[in-house]
Amino acid sequence: METERRVHLVRRIAVALLAMTFLLMVVGSWVKATGSGLSCPDWPQCYGQWLPPFPSQENGGVDPATGEPVLYTQAQVLYEWAHRALASAVGVVFLVLLALAWPDRRWIRRVETHPRLAWAGPPGAIVAAWIFLAGFAYLALPADHALRASAGDLRNLLPVLVAGSLLAWFLVGPLNPVIRKPALRTDLHPGLRRAPLYAAWVLLAQILLGGVTVLGKNAAPLTTAHLATATLYLLLIAWTVAFAVLRPVPEVPMDLPPEPERIVETVFPGEERPEPAEDAAGV
Ligand code: HEM
Repeated sequence: METERRVHLVRRIAVALLAMTFLLMVVGSWVKATGSGLSCPDWPQCYGQWLPPFPSQENGGVDPATGEPVLYTQAQVLYEWAHRALASAVGVVFLVLLALAWPDRRWIRRVETHPRLAWAGPPGAIVAAWIFLAGFAYLALPADHALRASAGDLRNLLPVLVAGSLLAWFLVGPLNPVIRKPALRTDLHPGLRRAPLYAAWVLLAQILLGGVTVLGKNAAPLTTAHLATATLYLLLIAWTVAFAVLRPVPEVPMDLPPEPERIVETVFPGEERPEPAEDAAGV
């Protein structure tokens, strides 16, 4: 992808992400204001399901974990579920932003160029993606499935999923054609590369914290930490947008040796290019 297109894409994605984050915070506040925070008592699923309709007051649903009737309305469950679903969408869009805005980490280059690791890129990425998908498929099994029952508490799988996805990211990095092009590496301001990095860790923590908040039955310290981290994350995304949208992007990537054509254009803008001077000694 050309530099200019990539930079424009980064700008659009950063702004979209800011809007999505704001919306996510509004939905989160709505969840709290309507008392829906515990309407999905489990995590990452909701009553052992990924998708609606969920058990609720209206349909006489029962919580499969406790066998108790569900006391929340379908709308309340959907608010909480929508909050989680939107957080996941933010996570995915965020990864795209990160791949585009921050492609020059030294360790990525090291993996790329390391003779022993270079071969591991494609197969490693496939294995990591497979582990991730298999873990996800496993989580999507019905709660009473024998495979799930035999493996005990599903939450034990979460660290595996997180590690698997980070590994996939690490390994897929060297495959990214954007990363492979040195000419594209320094066209963005360093601030734009650093802010998404910090925000990535904060977002990961925030999503896990959301889950812990639910599992911890919305205990006050957890909810407070969740809100505080959300604010920090919003600030980092705003910082990213400030760099991505407000800062002018240099037209010529700075690590490219300047081409003679460009130098002449800069020195004599819009003017006829002077003919190379005759060799004075030869006249
Ligand atoms: C980027 C990710 C997220 C952001 C920015 C975010 C933001 C917020 C905000 C601003 C609130 C309102 C808090 C308040 O008014 O005190 C909230 C509430 C809540 N969030 Fe999130 N959230 C995120 C992810 C998640 C995830 C992944 C889950 C669950 C798995 C979750 C579960 C909750 C719950 C249960 C509440 C209601 C707490 C209560 O009723 O006391 N959040 N969130």
